[in-house]
Amino acid sequence: MQFTFHNPTRIHFGAGQIARIAEEIPANARILLTFGGGSIHRNGVHAQVLAALAGRTVLEFGGIEPNPSYETLIKAVELARAERIDYLLAVGGGSVLDGTKWIAAAVPFVGDPWDIISRQAPVTAAIPLGAVLTLPATGSEANGNAVISRHSTGEKLYFGSPLVFPKFAILDPETTRSLVPRQVGNGIVDAFVHVCEQYLVSRPGTVVQDRQAEAILLALRELGPAAAAGRSDPAVLAGVMWAATNALNTLIGCGVAQDWATHAIGHEITALAGLDHAQTLAVVLPALLRHQQGLKRAKLLQYAERVWDLRDGTPEARIEAAIARTEAFFREVGVPTRLADYHVDAGIASQVAERLRRRGDLLGEARDLTPERVEALLRSAA
Ligand code: NZQ
Ligand code: ZN
Repeated sequence: MQFTFHNPTRIHFGAGQIARIAEEIPANARILLTFGGGSIHRNGVHAQVLAALAGRTVLEFGGIEPNPSYETLIKAVELARAERIDYLLAVGGGSVLDGTKWIAAAVPFVGDPWDIISRQAPVTAAIPLGAVLTLPATGSEANGNAVISRHSTGEKLYFGSPLVFPKFAILDPETTRSLVPRQVGNGIVDAFVHVCEQYLVSRPGTVVQDRQAEAILLALRELGPAAAAGRSDPAVLAGVMWAATNALNTLIGCGVAQDWATHAIGHEITALAGLDHAQTLAVVLPALLRHQQGLKRAKLLQYAERVWDLRDGTPEARIEAAIARTEAFFREVGVPTRLADYHVDAGIASQVAERLRRRGDLLGEARDLTPERVEALLRSAA
């Protein structure tokens, strides 16, 4: 096993930590505060951020939508260039953070910055960014990934760079009290599936990473139903927030042959049908695991035993029970698991397959998920 572990994001976790922005951002910085549709104004987070930045030069750019779009973000790039912005502060959920990462890379980019996404053009410079997270889900606060949509072409695509890790992230669980149940459930499912994409793989030998992954899955299993039911004691809020960060902050994936097929398929469903990111994952993961259970057999049996306490019956029965428990868990936290639950026709399976075919994409840890196999597994999730 060979890997380099480097996570440059400094995290300030806990109630009251928003005030620490002041010590993180240079006093003379020209700051652009980016945010979404207004939740930070309604829950008091915006006021806390501005209080921490009193006396600083702060411009604002709002309106970054869920599944952030090129069409919106390019306006922020123009604003940042015109105003000579040299520090970005993203305040919100994964969409605001992801969108701000692209702004950070796009502002100094020479040429068409959409190439960073569409052609994976190398990112050689980026404006520094910080994050105040208000929705535990994506792990974007402590990784170098972003997913950006372009409405004009119907695409939803990924880019990543070590240069867009946030310099710092504020994780105050109190900011999550204003989330509606749908977003809480989405966050739990997203974090759970992030772990699965790095854990439910066939190559053995990652003993420490397996145990770390199982710890996060067990924590989500323990806390998820309480959080989704609206229980807001500090231990629940804090546990969910820290679990989501740990699920995708590069630690558990060190040296692991990762999968990410569920996400790749899910992004296509969001682009085509507009489902929330986590809703697509709840539909795809169980179908994918059933489809790939031959390849992933050993790890699925470990998952059945260590995460769902399933020790009796044939190996096949234990694997099926573990997948069924996973589905039931997603539904319990309020995220349905069939396409029909979202009024999406099974015909979307062939549309997704066609897009993958056009791009020449082969998915899965073994690159054996051809467009035809993706179509078949999606039809099984009708
Ligand atoms: O826009 P505002 O008004 O802020 O409202 C948001 C939005 O409507 C609301 N919200 C956020 N915090 C809130 C709140 N409402 C009340 N109280 C709060 N404290 O929640 C709604 C959804 O927000 P969004 O940021 O879209 O959700 P999430 O954090 O789930 O992010 C989803 C995006 O992240 C991408 C997804 O593809 C999707 O585009 N991902 C990013 C990843 C990464 N960077 O590593 C990995 C993930 O797998 C994922 O692909
Ligand atoms: Zn995700």
